Amino acid sequence: MRGPTFLLAVLAAVHVRASASSEKAPEFQTLPSLREQAKLLDGWTEERIALIPGLLRKYGVDAWLMSQREYAEDTVFWALKEATQFSARRRTTHLFLASPASGAPAHYSWVENTDFVWTDLRRILGEQQPRSIALNTHPEIAFSGGLHAGELDAVLAGVGEEWREKFVLEPMLGVEVVATMVEGRLPWYRRMMETAWAIIEEGFSEKIIVPGESTSWDVEWWMREKIQSLNYTTWFQPSVYILTGEGFPVAATQHHPHQPSLLDDPRAPDRPIQFGDLIHTDFGVTALGLNTDTQHLGYVLYPGETDADVPKGMLEGLRKVNRLQDIVKSNMKIGLTGNEILKASRGQMRSEGIEGKIYCHATGEWGHSAGTVIGMTNLQDSVPVLGDLPLLKNTYYSIELFAEHFVPERNRTIMFPQEEDVYWDDESNSWEWVYGRQDTLLLIRTPRKAGSDIQEEL
Ligand SMILES: *[C@@H]1O[C@H](CO)[C@@H](O)[C@H](O)[C@H]1NC(C)=O
Ligand SMILES: *[C@@H]1O[C@H](CO)[C@@H](O)[C@H](O)[C@H]1NC(C)=O
Repeated sequence: MRGPTFLLAVLAAVHVRASASSEKAPEFQTLPSLREQAKLLDGWTEERIALIPGLLRKYGVDAWLMSQREYAEDTVFWALKEATQFSARRRTTHLFLASPASGAPAHYSWVENTDFVWTDLRRILGEQQPRSIALNTHPEIAFSGGLHAGELDAVLAGVGEEWREKFVLEPMLGVEVVATMVEGRLPWYRRMMETAWAIIEEGFSEKIIVPGESTSWDVEWWMREKIQSLNYTTWFQPSVYILTGEGFPVAATQHHPHQPSLLDDPRAPDRPIQFGDLIHTDFGVTALGLNTDTQHLGYVLYPGETDADVPKGMLEGLRKVNRLQDIVKSNMKIGLTGNEILKASRGQMRSEGIEGKIYCHATGEWGHSAGTVIGMTNLQDSVPVLGDLPLLKNTYYSIELFAEHFVPERNRTIMFPQEEDVYWDDESNSWEWVYGRQDTLLLIRTPRKAGSDIQEEL
């Protein structure tokens, strides 16, 4: 192994380290006080609520009724609540109107435990005479299917015969309200993303990883503690894998695998991280009502090795998956469905000779947020229902995928997964990286011990 690796390392030395070296290293970004955070959040929520009448008109619906009980909230509730609300209380009911007559408000809310909510609601409906009232009853889409079954019964009984026949389902209402990212969020999202990068960069360094000792699980739990120490939270357990070319599961995006046995779980191989390992993480943070989703790669240099010693095949693998990111990003045309984007991207991928998989999703408000999906790990031709929704502007997406690449230095094909979040930029009319994208491997360095050759001992 050592011989050919050395020769290729000489060749790799001519490859100038990618742009990241000239850029500022990502830093941990601290959050404002909780009181300040609440102010920010409420400002964004107000902007979002102000969009609703326009969305109702866009989708040709006169009214939207959302109702829930404490602890049985509609999915959309979380996007509309005040920062100091921790759940719905009693029965919490919202009515939105597309074009309220005679200067009436466009938004009504009740927090009630008597029939007053229904009599008052019927009064307003009587005055406003909506021809259609949307309810969130979609069987497949969480963001437009959040009306609980028992609550639907209560709504039907509460509004009475007259209004029941006006109920309609418009899935894009819930989807677009949750998906739309008001402008002020971006600078904060970018800071959160920088923090996520900084945690990965420290986790994938010799500060945290001691080759031959640290396991994947040690790094994962270090990441969890780091998130907590920064007063962030997360929306999934970070994962760290060793990419051997054998065990890496296709279902890398299953963030909550049921507890597998040690042998089934490639995150916890029966050995620690070693010199020469290519390692991978899927990592996200949560703060300010936002969630990030990132996958990066690292390489464990042998003692005394430098950047120039990274196997060239691994750098080529990273470049290949970078190319795949560009292909998908350029095919993400607003208004196309996720399935159309998937088909176009896979066609282009094939024509460029790239093997891999594409499984992109909306992100931001939720880790896997509202909006069309572009492939799933087990669905590479088309995704039913979710893949048929149109791609919306002013949203955030996770470009999540992998490319396969034959790494001569390892004599095997290895999957190179990446995930980076993008936002829609109205000015340039294109998707832009929220913070950047990985174009160079993170390196774990070990100094050569004076007077001994550790590599020979291995
Ligand atoms: C985390 O919160 C605590 C308590 O408010 C505060 O003292 C500390 O400075 C915060 N740490 C960071 C990194 O923001
Ligand atoms: C590379 O792998 C192939 C297939 O597993 C094997 O036949 C071949 O001998 C290997 N080559 C080297 C140089 O180890």
